[in-house]
Amino acid sequence: MRLNNEAERLQEQRDQDHKQSRSGIMINNIAGKVVAITGASSGLGEAAARDLSAQGAIVALGARRTDRIESLASELNRNGGKALAIATDVTDAEQVKRLVDAAVEIYGRIDVMLNNAGLMPHSPLERLKLDDWNQMIDVNLKGVLHGIAAALPHMKRQQSGHFINVSSVAGHKIRAGGVIYAATKHAVRVISEGLRMEVKPYNIRTTIISPGALDTELVDRITEPDIRESVRKLVYESALPADTFARVVAFAISQPDDVDVNEIVFRPTRQEF
Ligand SMILES: NC(=O)c1ccc[n+]([C@@H]2O[C@H](COP(=O)([O-])OP(=O)(O)OC[C@H]3O[C@@H](n4cnc5c(N)ncnc54)[C@H](OP(=O)(O)O)[C@@H]3O)[C@@H](O)[C@H]2O)c1
Repeated sequence: MRLNNEAERLQEQRDQDHKQSRSGIMINNIAGKVVAITGASSGLGEAAARDLSAQGAIVALGARRTDRIESLASELNRNGGKALAIATDVTDAEQVKRLVDAAVEIYGRIDVMLNNAGLMPHSPLERLKLDDWNQMIDVNLKGVLHGIAAALPHMKRQQSGHFINVSSVAGHKIRAGGVIYAATKHAVRVISEGLRMEVKPYNIRTTIISPGALDTELVDRITEPDIRESVRKLVYESALPADTFARVVAFAISQPDDVDVNEIVFRPTRQEF
């Protein structure tokens, strides 16, 4: 692919940063990186976009609520960052590919694929909420696969890259009433660990992030009102702010290129689950 002027300029900047880091001058290993983020319209994705942009990353924002990602991209650009917004429904592999391809087309490469989009409409299995089950499988599980499919060919060609897949403490533990969510988040960890082993030859890093309760819109989207209220009360009273997640993402990305942080589990100190 022929690089445009913007991409060439960014590459020069990266080469310069690389030389500086070799000569001992500290750089954060985030500035100049091109990061695609799914689910960037609220919560954790939005917080990560803001934090990474503030640290000099170029962010490609994907979500279905385009008004939100467009206004976030405008804000980040106004503040001196580089951001673009692309309408992305992660259940459609073509749309995720379009998000990643747009980043590569404009900025020359993709350094980090943050597969973050997800939802958690908990309910006991006996309520037979098949639409919720299917949506969780389509977004939380297939959405991550679509992110891998979109970014992996570029990362192989570059011989570098970093997948960050968002699981959950529910990817480690099962809770009655949250079985399908836990199944999708366990699957994200299985896929990420398999990916880690398979992409070794291409110098690609993989990180699973498994958060506990964080204050976002996740609980608002639980479709059963009684479950929504009990989850809010039992688990989310001690929820941490979303920027806690952003700091964890930045930690993983900012490690030297030969350090592959494979999994981080974190939760509020008071959270039992
Ligand atoms: N908050 C927590 O306590 C917590 C804990 C552990 C793990 N997580 C995980 O963190 C991730 C982010 O969730 P959050 O807490 O930030 O919740 P949130 O505020 O509800 O954000 C969810 C994001 O996912 C996006 N999304 C949902 N369906 C989508 C689809 N079909 N295509 C593209 N984007 C879609 C939403 O964007 P649109 O609706 O605009 O498309 C939104 O940006 C999820 O994977 C969640 O499971 C959260």
